[in-house]
Amino acid sequence: MAYYVRLGQIPPKRHTQFRQQDGSLYKEELVSSKGFSGIYSTLYHIYNPNEVKSIGKPRPYNWTAADAHGLNQTHLKTSDVGITGEDYLSARRMLLINNDVMMGICTPKKRKMDYFFKNADGDELIYIHDGEGVMYSQFGKLIVRKGDYIVIPRTTIYRFEFAEEGPLRLLIMESQGPIETVKRYRNDVGQLLEYSPYCERDIRPPHEIHLEEQKGDYLIQIKKQGMLHPYHYAHSPLDIVGWDGYLYPYALSIHDFEPITGRIHQPPPVHQTFQALGFVVCSFVPRLFDYHPLSIPAPYNHSNIDSDEVLYYAEGEFMSRKGIDRGSFTLHMGGLPHGPHPGTVEKSIGAKETHEYAVMLDTFRPLQITTDALEFVDKNYPMSWTT
Ligand SMILES: [Fe+2]
Repeated sequence: MAYYVRLGQIPPKRHTQFRQQDGSLYKEELVSSKGFSGIYSTLYHIYNPNEVKSIGKPRPYNWTAADAHGLNQTHLKTSDVGITGEDYLSARRMLLINNDVMMGICTPKKRKMDYFFKNADGDELIYIHDGEGVMYSQFGKLIVRKGDYIVIPRTTIYRFEFAEEGPLRLLIMESQGPIETVKRYRNDVGQLLEYSPYCERDIRPPHEIHLEEQKGDYLIQIKKQGMLHPYHYAHSPLDIVGWDGYLYPYALSIHDFEPITGRIHQPPPVHQTFQALGFVVCSFVPRLFDYHPLSIPAPYNHSNIDSDEVLYYAEGEFMSRKGIDRGSFTLHMGGLPHGPHPGTVEKSIGAKETHEYAVMLDTFRPLQITTDALEFVDKNYPMSWTT
């Protein structure tokens, strides 16, 4: 949900005759949320969107919680992970899960997808840690770059083509509920307020229609209820000549998030970037530190009594943590206090600015690490505050 967009050709009035050059009707499709009460878009196809040729055998596509991990402050060292799989879907390794959200990494060997993906289970939020390329979807072409968050509403049919050069590393979140801009930063009609850390100009929807008219055999891998269902269609799903509405994928760069700072330490809500059901996502970006004469830039110890907190360390030095690398995850579980490592508080005094980038996921229900995450667990981390 961002703002109203229209792209390509659409008829002046919805649900009326809109004809192709050969006189046949374009096929209208309403993509709506919450029945007919949520945001929606109206799409115009050359072909019928239901032309299924064949349906392959479904296969499980889910992750299992590592129950025995228990209550532990957790550091997952994934910085040296390398290639995690052959292609976009097989390379996804979800590491942290609960019923509201999954979070993991994806470093595929194949940069260009030769199939489409449609996640019917949840909205996706993809942070491009490394890489650049193009996302093709029914809504058009969207150029994506390092530092972008890409919000992909459920059932969007898409294909990524990443550049062959340079590293490629994606942080992937899948949300049971819709991923939205932060409500307290919106006015009564949905416009982002003057004091929001980002505004509509920073939100990049698809910028041009990408039309694929040819017929053939087009595979869409559909994720539904933890299974992948291979659907073969008689034409490309990118047969859209135009659309309008509020429901579409978009990019927002972490570099366009304007930090809010203060005289004393500001709590994580000032960094909030997205909201969803059961969790929030925050962005830590380069900023000036607190300017009270006696300020302590390092955070205080914190007992978040009903949340689990995940930090994904993207760039820069993290002054409150030792032994954390670019690409590390930390999970600080509710039920235990967490805070800066010994020595880092005194060391932070007098520091003027930080150049860090990090993505934070705070959940309102407990997270578990998956069996896929076990190999990355830093066993010394729970005791790393003891000198
Ligand atoms: Fe915290």
